[in-house]
Amino acid sequence: MLKLVEPTVTFHKSWVEAKREWPDGHQDGSGIRPGDRFETTKDFEAWIERLTMPADPAMLFGGVQVTASRFWIVKHDTYLGAIELRHVLTPFMLEAVGHIGYNIRPTARRRGVATWALKAILPHASNIGLSRVLLTCDEGNLPSARTIEINGGVLEDIRSTELGVKRRYWIDLSGYPSDQVSQESSRGGEAH
Ligand SMILES: CC(C)(COP(=O)(O)OP(=O)(O)OC[C@H]1O[C@@H](n2cnc3c(N)ncnc32)[C@H](O)[C@@H]1OP(=O)(O)O)[C@@H](O)C(=O)NCCC(=O)NCCS
Repeated sequence: MLKLVEPTVTFHKSWVEAKREWPDGHQDGSGIRPGDRFETTKDFEAWIERLTMPADPAMLFGGVQVTASRFWIVKHDTYLGAIELRHVLTPFMLEAVGHIGYNIRPTARRRGVATWALKAILPHASNIGLSRVLLTCDEGNLPSARTIEINGGVLEDIRSTELGVKRRYWIDLSGYPSDQVSQESSRGGEAH
């Protein structure tokens, strides 16, 4: 069963294996900054401590500090990806970044994992008082666009931004009562 869990050192080995699958090291929604170190348990613990701070210094958008909730997407003891919920939108985020970012490790793609994870995080967004969430993706990122659309994303526009041309979608959260947070839900379909 897929789960959303808070970042924890338990997944160190699997997380490092997953990172090696990324050609350029960049992972959307993972909180990695240049210079971060992960190979030793001590480094990994220190990184997780920063990642789970109420105000992670990495969460700066247009110079504004933003609070976020971070989850890892796991199956049993295997790390599959990460998803992050930013609690507010700065003007820069309203243009180009949105509330939610995610990534799935290359070997776990095309099995419905991102679709499941986005669905699973929406009750959390409702729970912190959001009535709708903005998601953006590069104009040509069809897998991400589909992930958003399957979860009810309504395209507002396609806009040139500081980060390139972005598709901007809103997901209405009125169908997600704020007390229905479940981190172990299998709604949205189980991955293979
Ligand atoms: C975008 C991403 C998260 C999708 O993850 P995933 O787990 O493979 O997505 P899913 O399996 O849930 O598939 C979602 C939809 O995209 C489609 N899709 C996935 N990969 C695709 C591909 N390479 N080409 C075409 N369609 C694709 C799926 O078929 C599905 O649509 P469908 O139900 O209409 O068939 C993943 O490709 C990724 O991590 N990319 C790099 C980081 C990134 O782009 N993050 C998003 C930033 S906005």
